[in-house]
Amino acid sequence: MIAPSILSADFARLKEEADAVPGADWLHVDVMDGHFVPNLTLGLPVVEALERATDIPLDCHLMINDPDRWAPGYAEAGSRNVTVHAEAAHDPRKLSRDIRAAGALAGLSVKPRTPLEDWVEVLRDYDTLLVMSVEPGFGGQKFMPEVLDKVRTARRLVDTGHLNVIVEIDGGISRDTIEQAAEAGVDCFVAGSAVYGADDPERAVEALRDQAVRASAHLGQG
Ligand code: DX5
Ligand code: ZN
Repeated sequence: MIAPSILSADFARLKEEADAVPGADWLHVDVMDGHFVPNLTLGLPVVEALERATDIPLDCHLMINDPDRWAPGYAEAGSRNVTVHAEAAHDPRKLSRDIRAAGALAGLSVKPRTPLEDWVEVLRDYDTLLVMSVEPGFGGQKFMPEVLDKVRTARRLVDTGHLNVIVEIDGGISRDTIEQAAEAGVDCFVAGSAVYGADDPERAVEALRDQAVRASAHLGQG
């Protein structure tokens, strides 16, 4: 799956920017509150408007404090997946129940320096694991290959039936980095600048997907 991140799109033309990536599996929406991360982007009213403007399922990535209070609203707005940060959630088990009850998949994200081991038990209650491959807050940063160990661990836990999550990666994914992420076992690739910085975003999505499919073709064949 490829999830273009509208953080790198033109915020004044969000409907056109969604229409520019018809092949996207999910549209990734970065919600930042200026507290959990230094940057400030958009919130629920914009997500509600975008939901009405596009048929692409929304993948909301909440980089905010107190997601326990705010995340269910993004699910009620019709998002397909709502991801909260492990570092910010107060009661992640209850939060996953609340997000699911409001009609979305529940996602848990870990920053690059947050160990996966601490969250494996909690992840049994989640549908998506979002591994950050940059420090959250800004698009266009350099990919951190060291987080791929977490991807490999998560892949193993899924393949052996210990977890049932979509393994998603976010940050610095491009034609130069997507293959190593695919080989490590990623299911869903977020890409901001690599899609919206391209001359043809639709083609960029297809090129990234082709590359990921080819790189992961040997996975699961023993
Ligand atoms: C960063 C965001 C990312 C961002 C990725 O905090 O979570 O979703 O849009 O942008 P690129 O793909 O340019 O690294
Ligand atoms: Zn994101």
